[in-house]
Amino acid sequence: MQQQIDQYTAEINTFSPANADELETFRIKFLGTKGIIKDLFDQFKTVGPEEKRTFGKVLNQFKQLAETKYNDLKEGLTSDVESSKSENDLTLPGDGFNTGTRHPLSLVRNEIIDIYKRLGFVVAEGPEIEDDWHNFSALNFPEEHPARDMQDTFFIKKNSGTDDIALRTHTSSVQVRMMENGKPPFRAIMPGRVYRNEAISARAHCFFHQVEGLYVDENVSFADLKQTLYHFVQELYGEGTKVRFRPSYFPFTEPSAEMDVSCTICKGDGCNMCKYSGWVEILGCGMVDPNVLENCGIDSKKYTGFAFGMGIERIANLKYVIRDLRLFSENDVRFLDQFKTEII
Ligand code: DAH
Repeated sequence: MQQQIDQYTAEINTFSPANADELETFRIKFLGTKGIIKDLFDQFKTVGPEEKRTFGKVLNQFKQLAETKYNDLKEGLTSDVESSKSENDLTLPGDGFNTGTRHPLSLVRNEIIDIYKRLGFVVAEGPEIEDDWHNFSALNFPEEHPARDMQDTFFIKKNSGTDDIALRTHTSSVQVRMMENGKPPFRAIMPGRVYRNEAISARAHCFFHQVEGLYVDENVSFADLKQTLYHFVQELYGEGTKVRFRPSYFPFTEPSAEMDVSCTICKGDGCNMCKYSGWVEILGCGMVDPNVLENCGIDSKKYTGFAFGMGIERIANLKYVIRDLRLFSENDVRFLDQFKTEII
């Protein structure tokens, strides 16, 4: 009897059913009403009183082994069945997967484009590698102007000044290309990347993004410029945002101005974003200098125009309260994921 039990124990220990049917056969064989355990207990009745003591214990342990094995296997099989069931259940919610996000600079650029499109502006683009004429000379930069200095500009080919090739330092170069290649009226915005030879820090970068605006027609006045920009700010930052214009200087506009908006963060009360002044500068603008119109073959007696240029990073900083420019180009998903809900 002991030998038989040892043999069955080995069989039970190595038993591994492929399916529920095999497990049921196992149950019937060992635990069924006509099974091996029942049979062993019947045999047990016939053994002598001396042996009863030792065999009683062995038999009970064996029975327990068979029962535990059966219960464990049954549990394993049902959870397998359940998981395969859930794989086939098409009514269960699907597994989520990670979607990408629009970059905050793209979100802001698209918003700016949308606002100006509603005012009848078209979108124009130009090359990032520019010649001296389009980036500087046609825009009325005097030869000795400090913006042409090696400090600011990444030159690709440095010759005598007027033959230079460089990475564009602003999107104003696209104005020139547009006016040279067409006839007024012009009403366009020109988004794009620009480059400057600056040390990278929280407040400056060697590349950033701008949107340029140009409107040239007969009788375009400074009042048109102010109203267009005022409307833009109301759309972008909400009704009631105040604007102010400060006189400024750009070689390509006369008169020139810089436009401030009431700080969108503290609403003008003063905070460290606006350096406690209540105002933040967002763009440069002015009436297109007659020299620029003439350089591009446009009759400055007949036509006038306004232009403006803004940095997309600056607009995004104010909108999302981002204080470090480097975040825009590091591609850290922990930063980018925060713009998930804003996909347009
Ligand atoms: N190009 C200027 C810059 O990069 C921005 C600018 C100022 C553009 C005034 C304009 C303008 O069209 O009228 O700083």
